[in-house]
Amino acid sequence: MCGIVGYIGSREVTPLLLSGLKKLEYRGYDSAGIAVIENKRVSIVKTAGKLLNLERKLEEYSPTGHVGIGHTRWATHGRPSNVNSHPHNGCSNDFAVVHNGIIENYLELKEWLVDKKGHDFASETDTEVIAHLVEEFYDGDLVQAVRETLKMVQGSYAVGIISLKEPDILIAARKDSPLVIGLGKGENFIASDIPAILNHTRDVYMVEDGEVVLLTKEKVVILDQDNKEVNRDVYHVDWDIEAAEKGGYEYFMLKEICEQPEAFKKTLSGRIQQGKVKLDELNFTREQIKQWEKVFIVACGTAYHSGLIGKPLIEEYLGIPVEVDIASEFRYRNPLVNNKTLAVFISQSGETADTLAALREAKRKGATTLAITNVVGSSISRVADYTFYLWAGPEIAVASTKAYTTMLIAQYLLCVYMAQVKGVMPEEKGREILTALQELPEKAKKILDQKELYLDIAKSIKEARSLFFIGRGYDYNIAQEGALKLKEISYIHAEAYAAGELKHGTLALITEKSPVIAVATQKSTYEKTLSNIKEVTARDAFVIGVAEEGDQEILKWVNKAIYIPKIENTVSPVLAVIPLQLLAYYTAVVRGCNVDQPRNLAKSVTVE
Ligand code: M6R
Repeated sequence: MCGIVGYIGSREVTPLLLSGLKKLEYRGYDSAGIAVIENKRVSIVKTAGKLLNLERKLEEYSPTGHVGIGHTRWATHGRPSNVNSHPHNGCSNDFAVVHNGIIENYLELKEWLVDKKGHDFASETDTEVIAHLVEEFYDGDLVQAVRETLKMVQGSYAVGIISLKEPDILIAARKDSPLVIGLGKGENFIASDIPAILNHTRDVYMVEDGEVVLLTKEKVVILDQDNKEVNRDVYHVDWDIEAAEKGGYEYFMLKEICEQPEAFKKTLSGRIQQGKVKLDELNFTREQIKQWEKVFIVACGTAYHSGLIGKPLIEEYLGIPVEVDIASEFRYRNPLVNNKTLAVFISQSGETADTLAALREAKRKGATTLAITNVVGSSISRVADYTFYLWAGPEIAVASTKAYTTMLIAQYLLCVYMAQVKGVMPEEKGREILTALQELPEKAKKILDQKELYLDIAKSIKEARSLFFIGRGYDYNIAQEGALKLKEISYIHAEAYAAGELKHGTLALITEKSPVIAVATQKSTYEKTLSNIKEVTARDAFVIGVAEEGDQEILKWVNKAIYIPKIENTVSPVLAVIPLQLLAYYTAVVRGCNVDQPRNLAKSVTVE
């Protein structure tokens, strides 16, 4: 996730920016840079890669001054490169901008600036439009120019802006992306995250959406949307740096589980417009989609589990048969891939060796290849013909959570998109799914607001030697993900079974108090799953049911019920898996496991 730091005061700014950026490294990034107001210019030093690269560059030339902004970039629009790194400037080099978030209408704005106003752009980023707009609107008042700019942009942002025209001020603003102001004596700071400034001050203002902040070295003025000064209480930070890096969470995994509502918004950002899915990065034609007789979805681990949900989706709404393959198996079975195939490769890291090898194989056989990944510029994104980025922000914990749910969202969007372009999705159904997708952030938040409930449930299963997850259809697919999550971080053996399969063998394992997690959120299979729940209840199993809120019937047959908010049933797996993530997390915690770094596992598996 990108990081911002900015300073205005009397101290030398470059070392301050650098040390602030170092404190943001834990967020993950792929390039970094700073901009400093020197005597007669705004000097920008930036580079792809880690802060070490930036430090090396600064050894050649280190700008001196007392006002500056710095940034660590986690690429979204445009691959990681020197030119795409922040800060960005306009044509005149008089302005510099750092930005976190996504400007959804940047292509439109860029076109306007280039065609109508004669601006030249250097980078592929969405952020650069902000610098050009500020330059375009500047008429002797930087705050006003920033206001005019922000009126035009749609999307999310936290920005830091400096200009040679007004060298004694620093401007910041936010909408849907975090931003704090650090208050010092004769100096002030901006930062996307408290750790960046915690060595200098513990007194901060939290900036609210729509506010613009004007900083000088002596004062901070917060302006609301009507340009009126706002009185803000000072928040005194009393945590230490380590806790702050994890945002106060004990583990990155919990932080990432809780970031899901935000991650959903980012994955959806700009991709639903007037009841239609808009995916500029794909631009498939009707003819292209029509020529695909088969779809392959290929991935590993959690990403593979997400593909299991993509299969019935595409088969139902596009009428194209889909095969889902484990990447390490795909290449060795000579799959029937040809130029009438769309092959989709899903990978959070974009570096998984088996998935990459499978992608190369599918390409060699003539398939059109599409990557769904979280990491911009990753190997898989570079090899595939098309890439759909998740924009979920960096995932640090080994156990994948927000990547899984955003992979599901990506596949809903992809499916509705292709069905709409092909003209085979009833308008009403498309609308229902898209509306439900937009409801996800708020409904996920409802589940997360009650996360402590899962600690108690975790205590009731923590001594189990083996756990069973059951469900049908989509519920079975998320049961598979729930079982993987539990075993990889708590080391309790867990297996998922299609509920209807139980009586064909596995039921023999169910005895008194055997823990069974039964997922029953799908209306079309509910009655059947309930019968399977009764089968295990009759054998005195200890059953935890996951159901839609309002389901009273299930209470008669389970020992504990977990409810998820009601939502359109196709989309409900995104919500129903969250309790399973939380259950795995708290079980690992109560068993004293190292949640973020489970034994024997790595975040990115780059060997076959
Ligand atoms: O980076 P990828 O999505 O390609 O990684 C695939 C798997 O290695 C990964 O999902 C793994 O199963 C996780 N540890 C699951 O939590």
